[in-house]
Amino acid sequence: MDNGTGTEQARKTAEGLAYSSGFGNEHSSEAVPGALPIGRNSPQRAPLGLYAEQLSGTAFTEPRAHNRRSWLYRIRPSAAHPPFTRIDNGGLRGAPFTETVPDPNRLRWDPLPEPPAGTDFLSGLWTLGGNGDATQRVGMAIHLYAANASMTDRVFSDADGELLIVPERGGLLLRTEFGLLRVEPGHMALIPRGVRFRVELLDATARGYVCENYGSPFVLPDLGPIGANGLANARDFMAPVAAYEDVEGPVRVVNKFCGNLWAATYDHSPLDVVAWHGNHVPYVYDMRRFNVIGTISYDHPDPSIFTVLTSPSDTPGLAGVDFVVFAPRWLVGEDTFRPPYFHRNVMSEYMGLIEGAYDAKTAGPGGFVPGGGSLHNMMSAHGPDHETFERASEAELAPRKVDDGLAFMFETRWPVTATPQAMAADHLQTGYDEVWQGLERHFRP
Ligand SMILES: [Fe+2]
Repeated sequence: MDNGTGTEQARKTAEGLAYSSGFGNEHSSEAVPGALPIGRNSPQRAPLGLYAEQLSGTAFTEPRAHNRRSWLYRIRPSAAHPPFTRIDNGGLRGAPFTETVPDPNRLRWDPLPEPPAGTDFLSGLWTLGGNGDATQRVGMAIHLYAANASMTDRVFSDADGELLIVPERGGLLLRTEFGLLRVEPGHMALIPRGVRFRVELLDATARGYVCENYGSPFVLPDLGPIGANGLANARDFMAPVAAYEDVEGPVRVVNKFCGNLWAATYDHSPLDVVAWHGNHVPYVYDMRRFNVIGTISYDHPDPSIFTVLTSPSDTPGLAGVDFVVFAPRWLVGEDTFRPPYFHRNVMSEYMGLIEGAYDAKTAGPGGFVPGGGSLHNMMSAHGPDHETFERASEAELAPRKVDDGLAFMFETRWPVTATPQAMAADHLQTGYDEVWQGLERHFRP
């Protein structure tokens, strides 16, 4: 397919998509009236000659509040496929990450280099690092992607975890088993574990970040004394409505399984779900809808106040990974150092930048730039750079809107081990430590 025409077609398709709103809902949708059975999940003969199939995202027996599953009514059952065989992993790596030793240094990368022509989302994935073990369903991985072509005759699914996609450049049309999602920079999308999807580009190029969560599915954080509303509001999460492909012909299905890519050529498109219901569903969220809560007196709350989604662990309050967004907000704190404070953290922090600048870091070439990222591993000391500290210490504390950037963080309970390709990359910055040099001694005993 000519990519120019493909992009045009994808843009047309992405216009005016319908969605079903709400987080964790029991959604239901049918692309053809009557395709969804009523009153039961698996009738003797499913409507319209479809096959009924359950997709379980959690164990059958997990508590109702955590249970994720969907029922799919499809032209052919997923079981109708030939054997999978190993294919090259490209730039993808999986946990456990054992090829390098974990590094206590503060690390920062520039954006990925431009990929060769014809690189689609899947072949453009490049693993920066991660932790845990995909076979134990524990931990997370940080990937980046850079693409200049749509996936055309292949689809992808990840058995290892859910994929939280954060575009930085270029919109994406996600064609999933559940229907279509449009994802632009400033949005995040989530593809649940095992859901097959194809990524088409809405612009000439696409670039962004992916958090692969091997652990329990992301949920909205509890709000405690904040009350019944605030942070990311449940109704702003958009699931697709059913849309299916009725395609007979070879389609390559690539499955990431325990860190490796496997592929099989089906004789039909597996995006053939005509109706579905359930709560194991993909979704998209516009991060500018985040209800930012902060101080109206003094001091900053900890950045956990910016949590969009959290993957809980067995220990209350201790996330496998949190997804945190630094959305536009007012700073009004009195007698307060307003940029993020100096910090050493038992949690490990990977930060990315979607647009503009981040208020603790000087922007510009060689700095923290859109498409780049920084890794502050367990207990590594970080905070405002020298220039930001001096400026903020002298600034007049009038109310100020911070609206010149959109940054995010993947924060995880385990240190992140970078991949050999990340440690050897030309776009790994040298001299990141320099930003904290020259912090002068002001002590006057
Ligand atoms: Fe921090």
